Amino acid sequence: MRRAPTAILISGRGSNMASLIEAARDPGFPARIVLVLSNRPDAAGLSVARAAGIPAAVLDHGPYRGDRAAHEAAIDEALRGAGAAFVCLAGYMRRLTPLLVGRWAGRMLNIHPSLLPAFPGLHTHARALAAGVKLHGCTVHLVTETVDAGPILAQAAVPVLPGDTEETLAARVLACEHILYPAALANVAGGTGAAALQPPAAALFNPLPLRPATT
Ligand code: GRF
Repeated sequence: MRRAPTAILISGRGSNMASLIEAARDPGFPARIVLVLSNRPDAAGLSVARAAGIPAAVLDHGPYRGDRAAHEAAIDEALRGAGAAFVCLAGYMRRLTPLLVGRWAGRMLNIHPSLLPAFPGLHTHARALAAGVKLHGCTVHLVTETVDAGPILAQAAVPVLPGDTEETLAARVLACEHILYPAALANVAGGTGAAALQPPAAALFNPLPLRPATT
C-alpha cells in the first residue's frame, strides 16, 4: 500500500501531532509522517516528534518579520523537500496567506476546537460556555484563505455538562480531537489526492456517554 507522505505544522505542545504520529505507526494507516515543522523554536511538540523518530525542524517566523511571503516560501520548500503530499496544521498559530494555502489547496487540513461554523477563531471553549450551547466539539476541515471556514471533512461532538469550566470542556474536546484527526487524515489520504476536494464522508460521533437526564 502506498502511504501518503504527510507533514505536520505546529506551534506548541503538539498533542494532536502526537496522535497523528501514533496512528501513523500502524503500517496499515494510509499516511506516514515525514516531517514536523514548527514556527516556534520552543514548541514542546518538537521534542515529542524527535523522540518518535520523526524529523522535526524549526522555521522561526521572527527573522522574516514583515515578509510573510518569504516565510511561507521557506515552509513550502521544506514541505516539498520532505516529499509531503498532505499537510496537517496541528495547533499552528500563524495565519496563512493565499500563497501557501493556494499551493496546498485540497491537501492541507486543520483541526479546530469547535463545531464549525460555530465559534471560529480563538477561545472557543469559553465562548461555547458563554453561549450556553449543549453540544460542543471539534472539526477537521480543508484550509482555505478564510480562517476556519474551509470545507468540513469530519466533526465530533461532546456534551457540555453542568459545572463545566473552560478547562474541563477543553479536555473533553481534546480527547475527541485525538480520535478525529487521525480518522479524517486516513479518510483523505486513503483516497486519491483529488478525493480531498470532494466532501468525504463526515464523521459525527460521540465517544462519551451522555449523562442521563435527571428529573
Ligand atoms: C487544539 O485544540 C487544536 O484544535 C487547535 O489548537 C490546539 C492545539 O493543541 N487548533 P495541540 O498543540 O495539538 O496539543
